[in-house]
Amino acid sequence: MKKSRLIIGNWKSYLGLADGIALAKALVDHHVPQANQIVVICPQFPLLGAISQVLPFHQQTSNGILLGSQDISAWDAGAHTGDVSHSLLSDLGCHYSIIGHSERRQGNQETDAMLKEKLVMAINNGITPIFCVGEPLNVYQSKQTLAFIEAQLTAVFSDFPAIPDQLIIAYEPIWAIGSNIIPRLSEIETVHQHINKALQQLFPVTPSESIRIIYGGSVNADNCKSMIQQPSVDGFLVGRASISELDFLSIIVNSNKEFTS
Ligand code: PGA
Repeated sequence: MKKSRLIIGNWKSYLGLADGIALAKALVDHHVPQANQIVVICPQFPLLGAISQVLPFHQQTSNGILLGSQDISAWDAGAHTGDVSHSLLSDLGCHYSIIGHSERRQGNQETDAMLKEKLVMAINNGITPIFCVGEPLNVYQSKQTLAFIEAQLTAVFSDFPAIPDQLIIAYEPIWAIGSNIIPRLSEIETVHQHINKALQQLFPVTPSESIRIIYGGSVNADNCKSMIQQPSVDGFLVGRASISELDFLSIIVNSNKEFTS
């Protein structure tokens, strides 16, 4: 089975209400669906309600832009102040959730144990996790990237109490996020292949088409063209460039594997 590619916009906390709605409307109006490609936007939580009204996620005629969240509660709905539960996310038509972004691991002290609970919660409730891994600069410079990423994966997925239907891993070197610097193509390919191998051992019964490995960190409309040609790159997690209509739509078009520059 051919894997569909994923282009995921991580809006972080960049956009307010009016700008967020305007961007979602512009994307719905101008997005031309590409074969074998899924496009997801992940606005900050308070925007999800308004944007779910803009995206025709519940219609057969959806033009292919789906909704994701930037986090998910580790608990079911209940007495968890400040959390957003999987049931509300599902009500809003969120099919995807970013889990373990380095900005949350660092800025919000999210631990492997917490991330594992969030992953289980998402998977058990039909929300596809976009699980982020990636090394800091000193690890990259000391050539320990593969061991570091493998440790991040085993920390959450060993003895994992659920079988994912769909799993997305986003490889995001921390030093590449927001820096306009990306790894060499060969480095991305090596890391993605290593992630793939580690996951096949951790989830031997999950078909390989159900696991996709995407790259994130300073993706733009130009560098995506060569990255998407790498055999193990199944798409992108896009930060800054996803809040520009023109840049994001260009990334969507230029990330067509068949595209030749
Ligand atoms: P960036 O962010 O594209 O702005 O580098 C990517 C991310 O953090 O997901």
